[in-house]
Amino acid sequence: MAKTKKEGYLSAKESRRISKENRKITNALEKKRKRKNVPESEYLTEMHDRNNAVEFDNLHTYFFTDTGVVKSVDSVTFDIPIGKTVGVVGESGCGKSVTSLSLMQLLQRPQGQVVEGEIRLNLGDKAYDIAKIPYEKMLELRGNVISMIFQEPMTALNPVFRIGAQLGEVIELHDGNGKDKEYVKKRTIELLEMVGIANSEGVYKMFPHELSGGMRQRVMIAIALACNPRIIIADEPTTALDVTIQAQVLDLLRNLKDKINSSIMFITHDLGVIAEMADYVVVMYAGRIIEKGTAEDIFYHPAHPYTIGLMESKPVVGKDVEKLYSIPGKVPNPVDMPNYCYFKDRCEKCVKKCDGEYPTEISLSPTHKVSCYLYDGVDADAAREVNKTERLDETEGER
Ligand SMILES: Nc1ncnc2c1ncn2[C@@H]1O[C@H](COP(=O)(O)OP(=O)(O)OP(=O)(O)O)[C@@H](O)[C@H]1O
Ligand SMILES: [Mg+2]
Repeated sequence: MAKTKKEGYLSAKESRRISKENRKITNALEKKRKRKNVPESEYLTEMHDRNNAVEFDNLHTYFFTDTGVVKSVDSVTFDIPIGKTVGVVGESGCGKSVTSLSLMQLLQRPQGQVVEGEIRLNLGDKAYDIAKIPYEKMLELRGNVISMIFQEPMTALNPVFRIGAQLGEVIELHDGNGKDKEYVKKRTIELLEMVGIANSEGVYKMFPHELSGGMRQRVMIAIALACNPRIIIADEPTTALDVTIQAQVLDLLRNLKDKINSSIMFITHDLGVIAEMADYVVVMYAGRIIEKGTAEDIFYHPAHPYTIGLMESKPVVGKDVEKLYSIPGKVPNPVDMPNYCYFKDRCEKCVKKCDGEYPTEISLSPTHKVSCYLYDGVDADAAREVNKTERLDETEGER
């Protein structure tokens, strides 16, 4: 990208040229999405594995901004099996929320667009590709099949409507076809009770500002669960809560998931929460997946230097350390990504090959995959052993 004399700044002319080019691309994509009466065959697809609720396949989601194209999600592939919880972890800005918003088709438009890849959604008797689905059809799926608990309950709830009205509206829209007001009210109060709100009749008449943070988050969960969705996306649902409430909310989510056999995509940067909740873990870095596997793979045999760094920066009860480890450096600029491994500039374990192109995914076991040259051509167990001994040595040294 051309820059003016002042490094990092764009001239007005350059910015205008970029925005004109962007508009051309986004207008074409928007026009396609807003078409009416699109035949189902256009977005009908086949699941690669029928036991998966969702399959992200080579997903690319970009934001076409006036300063350039932000490659927020750049080739992401992972599955969410039916009835399981998949934890998505990674530093702030690595593309976790954008991945989930792509599945909900709630990206900020027109800048935010899925430009490549498939998001296959299992509907039991058939499967749809969310990346191709028209706007109209998505309205039917959102809430009924997939629903989302947002990062910030205060901004997601409408401050000028009572809780009962906001929750009731969701039930009326999706579940209340032909049902009377009494039914909607009864179901609303039932849902409030289900998420552990004691004074449900009272809360029904309250405004969001009259509730505590934990109560608001519970209302958000009630809204998300109102229609027994197959997939629940929880985007940092407990970040704004204190630890006791956090534990209660996690318990609640786990119980509810078992009750309705839904799948959960659980986004967080808190590894403790992941350890408690997830069956599978996906580690993202700068818009890509650098490692994925079962919770056991990631917690007991982390392979990528970034995942190992994340594990080491987590305080452990009983482990005596003077200073917690922090990963040096910062995430590269998403507008100007290097063409080698994105973590290379922060990595302390680089090998000669790391100067080459971005590493491809390597299988360490049928469930455990990593994108790192350390494991390229090396016997996976030997590489793991190296990591394990190194970490043990470090711990010994610290003591
Ligand atoms: N509307 C937008 N316009 C332009 N860029 C955006 C937009 N939304 C997100 N991005 C960019 O996409 C990248 C990924 O953002 P995302 O919100 O997915 O991060 P995240 O992993 O959820 O972080 P956090 O843990 O802080 O929530 C960031 O670099 C961000 O700047
Ligand atoms: Mg986020």
